[in-house]
Amino acid sequence: MTKPPWLRRATRAARALLATGTTAVLAAGLLTATATTSQAATQAPCDIYAAGGTPCVAAHSTTRALYAAYNGPLYQVRRASDSATKDINPLTTGGYANAAAQDSFCAGTSCLITVIYDQSGKGNSLTQAPKGAFSGPAAGGNDNLANAVEAPVTVGGHQAYGVYVAPGTGYRNNHTSGIATGDQPEGMYAIFDGTHFNGGCCFDYGNAETSSTDTGNGHMEAIYFGNSNFWGSGSGNGPWVMADLENGLFSGAGTGNNPGDPSVASRFLTAAVKGGPNQWAIRSGNAQSGGLATDYSGVRPNASGYNPMHKEGSIILGIGGDNSNASAGTFYEGVMTSGYPSDATENAVQANITAAGYSSAATSTGALTPGSRISLQATTAPCCTSHYLRHDDADSKVVISPISSASSATDKADAGWIVRAGLANSSCLTFESANQPGRFLRHYAFQLYLDADDGGSNFAQDATFCATTGNSGTGRSFQSVNYPAKYLRHYNYTGYLAADGGSNSWDATASWAQDTSWLTAAPWS
Ligand code: AHR
Ligand code: AHR
Repeated sequence: MTKPPWLRRATRAARALLATGTTAVLAAGLLTATATTSQAATQAPCDIYAAGGTPCVAAHSTTRALYAAYNGPLYQVRRASDSATKDINPLTTGGYANAAAQDSFCAGTSCLITVIYDQSGKGNSLTQAPKGAFSGPAAGGNDNLANAVEAPVTVGGHQAYGVYVAPGTGYRNNHTSGIATGDQPEGMYAIFDGTHFNGGCCFDYGNAETSSTDTGNGHMEAIYFGNSNFWGSGSGNGPWVMADLENGLFSGAGTGNNPGDPSVASRFLTAAVKGGPNQWAIRSGNAQSGGLATDYSGVRPNASGYNPMHKEGSIILGIGGDNSNASAGTFYEGVMTSGYPSDATENAVQANITAAGYSSAATSTGALTPGSRISLQATTAPCCTSHYLRHDDADSKVVISPISSASSATDKADAGWIVRAGLANSSCLTFESANQPGRFLRHYAFQLYLDADDGGSNFAQDATFCATTGNSGTGRSFQSVNYPAKYLRHYNYTGYLAADGGSNSWDATASWAQDTSWLTAAPWS
């Protein structure tokens, strides 16, 4: 088969690098080469793996090219308004994703990520995971697709989007080529949002069954990230990077708890797993700085069925091998290799990752633009002008309360919101809690709550509000996308979705215009 031009160039680059000698020399050289922006594009993770003799056989990213010479599509989005699809490419060869192309294509509607293309040339792209032993929530028992705006990020100063896996979301490829099977050696890494996880089974990226069913111990080898302690765990309360080897999440040589595997806490997490004959390792690090720690490296687990392994070579993202789909997480990029990568090769990849510049910093404060941090101040006088919309620590309700510079750090943080593109309409807005990332302002039974996304289209609608001129003539009002006659309102110091006159007590006409008008203020947190 003729290789595409970018792959031919990548192979040539890899060969040239291999000619430089040992992996240690190579790694040291790469650390220097990736340290400056101008040279960053000369090496990408898969060039480094190729040079180390363990080439990528799958390379997935919605944020950037993983080969310096890659200029094909990164991912595909489908918009709700007319079901049209669009491929999102790198801005330049080897560069960052053209997120602006997604923004304009999805303006005024919502988009799902339909394909995460394989950049390796092996055709191992990821698409909607089909029903397995467990059904997903989408039609036919398939899993949901990720909302394309739910994991915004900047990489090297460029806006991009990750893959936001709410429970029920999953991607898979059961017909791969070149992925390890049986006891063959392989490696893999992924970059995750280290603050977005849960204890459901199983937020995985890696090698799984081709049947989407549990075919027994040792039939998987995937990176797991989350705080499930049902099978295995590490030190502290999690979350942990573990290996999903089927019928068990492993954190070391034994089943159950292995205290050598640390809880991890960075916003951007590099997680790596590799495995070969009676040998495997877990490594992790902060994807913004520093190196990779080795959390485990040694022999295969002592439970039966894991030595030798029985890998099947399908690829999963966000789910377990049998399509268990109760898990949550966010994926930015990841690869799988042929062969067991050396620690030096992985260290060089980590240096490339930290040089790439992942960031979640606010783009501004006090503005109603996605990425900005704000607080929302009530305008109703005289009761409420020192009150701000905040979540309530006692429950998941959203209320207003007075906040001032003298307020506690918790109260201030509870009144901080990160403006996001609207989950159900990217031209409207969604508000994410500043101190509870992954939880969003939404209405339910016309009251306001702070909730995690359950992956359903109802949630996206319940969490999307369109900014309008304030109903009182002051500030802004926020109109519900699924109940356009209703707006964000405070009533008796509690948050509601209210019409101007209606059947609920909080639809009362008196003060409605003021109660639904808010000032966007600099954030209290
Ligand atoms: O190994 C943990 C999980 O167990 C796997 O992901 C799944 O296939 C099985 O339910
Ligand atoms: O808040 C009104 C509706 O109540 C929401 O759309 C729905 O999630 C719930 O039934």
